[in-house]
Amino acid sequence: MRTIAHLSDLHFGREKEEIQESLLEDLKELKPSVVVISGDLTQRALRKEFSLARAYLKRIPFPVIVVPGNHDIPFFNLPRRFILPLMRYKYYISNDLYPVFVDDEVAVVGINTARSLAVHNGRISSKQLTQVCHAFADVSEDHCKIVVTHHPFICPPNIYRPTVGSAAAALKKFDECGVDILLSGHYHRGHIGEADAHFPDVRRPILLVHAGTTISTRLKQEVNSYNFLTIKKNEITIDVRGWNGKAFSHVRTYEYGRKGESLTMKGGVA
Ligand SMILES: [Fe+2]
Repeated sequence: MRTIAHLSDLHFGREKEEIQESLLEDLKELKPSVVVISGDLTQRALRKEFSLARAYLKRIPFPVIVVPGNHDIPFFNLPRRFILPLMRYKYYISNDLYPVFVDDEVAVVGINTARSLAVHNGRISSKQLTQVCHAFADVSEDHCKIVVTHHPFICPPNIYRPTVGSAAAALKKFDECGVDILLSGHYHRGHIGEADAHFPDVRRPILLVHAGTTISTRLKQEVNSYNFLTIKKNEITIDVRGWNGKAFSHVRTYEYGRKGESLTMKGGVA
């Protein structure tokens, strides 16, 4: 069994100190095998914000897989935006744009979908798809294979915003190389979908898991939250943990079979 804490859209610059401290306490209690952060570490890609994000990441006492989001590329500084878009992210957070975590049961690969030109929806290149499949080629069929991006592949209900560019091509490739779960953020709304319901070419039961904004004030009609995944041989459980004003606590649970059994949901709505 392995556990993954899936955080997103921290947006340092708009962070809430009380919530960030409570999150650390919750993580220390739950002791995840790995912490995934699906982008938007900062609000405006400023040095001060990246510095806060770096200091916070250093306080997480577990392995961390992190990818950049569109807010981690400078927005107003056009020369920096187009010539060195990820310079500050690389300096303060990580120089590795293909972070990988592999143990005996799970394999997690992060890729950067933020682009200087594609402000809202981001993109995935064919080179990145090849890199992901290459990373998974060396792990066993029994490993749960997980890809982390900032931009999502589907929209939650009643949200009409662009999804990541080349989503259908990416899902087809992920289907071929055995991906089980995609973790993303961006909308600041938690949501879970099944790929084959949205992409007719996909045969594998790939779960599309969105996290809300975990510690920022940039809420979109739901509370601060994150996902806590428990991955067993034949079962994936996703607990949504939401901020209740004092601490993070259980909001609802989704249960999903590794062999494509349908999703069940228990609990409330944040
Ligand atoms: Fe965001």
